[in-house]
Amino acid sequence: MNGIKIRGTGRCVPARIVTNHDMTAIVDTNEEWIASRTGIQRRRHLTTETHRDLCVGAARQAIENAGISPEEIGGCIVATLTADTLVPSAACALQRDLGLPHESVCFDLNAACTGFLFALHTMECLLRASSRKYGLVLGAECLSRITNWADRSTCILFGDGAGAAVVEFDPAYQSIHACLGCHGNEELLHVGGVGPGREQLISMEGQSVFKFAVEAVPFCMDAVLSKTGRNVEDVDFFVFHQANARIIDLVVRRYRIPPEKYYKNISEYGNTSAASIPLVISELWDLGKVRSGSRVLVVGFGGGLTWGGAMVEF
Ligand code: ACO
Repeated sequence: MNGIKIRGTGRCVPARIVTNHDMTAIVDTNEEWIASRTGIQRRRHLTTETHRDLCVGAARQAIENAGISPEEIGGCIVATLTADTLVPSAACALQRDLGLPHESVCFDLNAACTGFLFALHTMECLLRASSRKYGLVLGAECLSRITNWADRSTCILFGDGAGAAVVEFDPAYQSIHACLGCHGNEELLHVGGVGPGREQLISMEGQSVFKFAVEAVPFCMDAVLSKTGRNVEDVDFFVFHQANARIIDLVVRRYRIPPEKYYKNISEYGNTSAASIPLVISELWDLGKVRSGSRVLVVGFGGGLTWGGAMVEF
């Protein structure tokens, strides 16, 4: 009890579509390699848009879909590592752009690709400890800004986008029962910071991260199922971080999850890090695959290394 439900979703992606064919003009690669190794066909990259534009677009849609007004929102968390500015945070910029109450708690959070789940859990705790009913949670990334265009094994993976969810707290709702974790690792996945000599480009040991992911996802699923006392059949839908279609394929095979209970949009957007899970959720909502009353097991993993799972209700 004392939990949150998702009441509205939204998404916003840049207009420019970059195909696998386009990538062959940048690095020594080919369309078939990218599609077969990752499941990616195209991704979106910023041109004139900003991170802030994507956040505003996704958040406005989520608030409208939830049927509430911005003044009702008690907190806003943006999961990101690529905001336009470090200060103000993307969430503070949203406070201004959307006219959220000055009393709403607005901040950014970085847990790489698991950021949206970390933010959902943080928002649940925050609303539980306050008298506010609604929170706004976003995952938003402009990874094209930190992509190493000379590294063919990573530059083909990443895309830009933002997804948002309005959550409602109620003492009668189930908790999302988030199971989150990390172990500090600088070698497998790294993006530099603001210190001298710290290059702000993504570097990744793809194969090792792949191995980590195929262990982390089942670990998170089992943890959430055990915490909630549910089994796979009780879950209406499964949402996975979209890092590589092969990771999802391995997991659904292992758990015998039927095709109508999971979804992949990595072919369209690539890996959008913290935005990937809310982009999926927003599309599922529009497609009617999840609706009010749905129970959805959400799993993410990524840089940090971080991992997380939660049972999210709508
Ligand atoms: N085009 C053609 N060939 C390529 C390309 C490319 N774009 N990239 C690599 N290759 C070559 C390599 O050079 C290598 O060649 P070699 O055998 O002659 O040395 C061969 O393809 C195989 O390379 P691998 O790195 O072993 O390829 P792999 O099958 O592991 O796929 C990939 C790489 C797609 C990165 C995969 O490892 C992966 O998806 N890893 C997980 C990534 C992930 O989940 N990240 C999540 C977190 S991201 C975040 O937090 C921001």
